[in-house]
Amino acid sequence: MGADSCGLALTGARALVTASTKGIGFGIAKVLASCGGRVVINGRNPGTVSESVEKLSSLGEVSGIACDLAREGCASRLVREAASRLGGLDALVYVPPPPPGGRFQEVSLEDWRLSYRLLVEAPIEAVTAAVEYLRESRNPSITFVTSIAAWEVFPEIATSTVLRPSLHALTVLLARELGPLGVRVNAVVPGYILTDRLTALAEKRARGKGTTSDQELREMASVIPLGRIGEKEEVGWIAAFLASPRASYVTGAIVAATGGLHRLTR
Ligand SMILES: NC(=O)c1ccc[n+]([C@@H]2O[C@H](COP(=O)([O-])OP(=O)(O)OC[C@H]3O[C@@H](n4cnc5c(N)ncnc54)[C@H](OP(=O)(O)O)[C@@H]3O)[C@@H](O)[C@H]2O)c1
Repeated sequence: MGADSCGLALTGARALVTASTKGIGFGIAKVLASCGGRVVINGRNPGTVSESVEKLSSLGEVSGIACDLAREGCASRLVREAASRLGGLDALVYVPPPPPGGRFQEVSLEDWRLSYRLLVEAPIEAVTAAVEYLRESRNPSITFVTSIAAWEVFPEIATSTVLRPSLHALTVLLARELGPLGVRVNAVVPGYILTDRLTALAEKRARGKGTTSDQELREMASVIPLGRIGEKEEVGWIAAFLASPRASYVTGAIVAATGGLHRLTR
């Protein structure tokens, strides 16, 4: 797809998208690849990574690296290997693997530690490794995928509710610190997006209430102003815009992909 088919001037953009063999990360990788980006995806399992690369390969240049972000050193290795493979790095898109769910009283200390690792430590590790490559890019950017749980209390995902706000703080902190290097730093905030993670949440609610997961998904949709659950590619387009030179004056932005679900402020 050599031409700038999306109008985002992303042709040849070198991008790493973490946790992207399926779900929101996959949706972001798909849009980036279809817009001419050269994309490295990631997941824990080499077989799953290969399958997902295969699904995306007709869109553009996509390769994968298997690595478990729960392990210290994975995030920096991912960045280094992706940059070496691509000959540099223009866009780091950190999608956190889903942290363990559960209410406060159901969550173990181990789950808190894992959540901290995925939502705080690993993104810091990734950024620390990425800066040396990004500062050499002509359009460098970092985009974090966060969650509506960073804005509102979701008792069923206690660790996310407590730890996700730190990704917003990291976004605005890095926007200031890396702005002078030309590196733009933004966040995308999904509300309800149709992925395995959301289906699992709907199934859990259905078990607790004696309903079906379809009923639960419909109930979620009913409170969204746009009246439906989002598609992963709809998050992908926002992330692609933020990574593109079309967003050249956008940094420190925290962009809702919620269908209006989040409480609006003036
Ligand atoms: N879906 C929503 O409605 C929603 C809303 C708000 C926020 N979010 C957040 O958005 C992020 C993505 O969620 P999703 O719904 O897209 O989840 P998903 O469909 O379950 O996909 C998760 C992805 O993460 C990868 N992954 C899991 N653990 C990993 C690890 N330790 N290291 C590397 N990769 C790992 C999985 O690949 P493998 O299994 O192959 O490793 C898969 O590609 C999560 O942080 C989630 O909390 C989602």
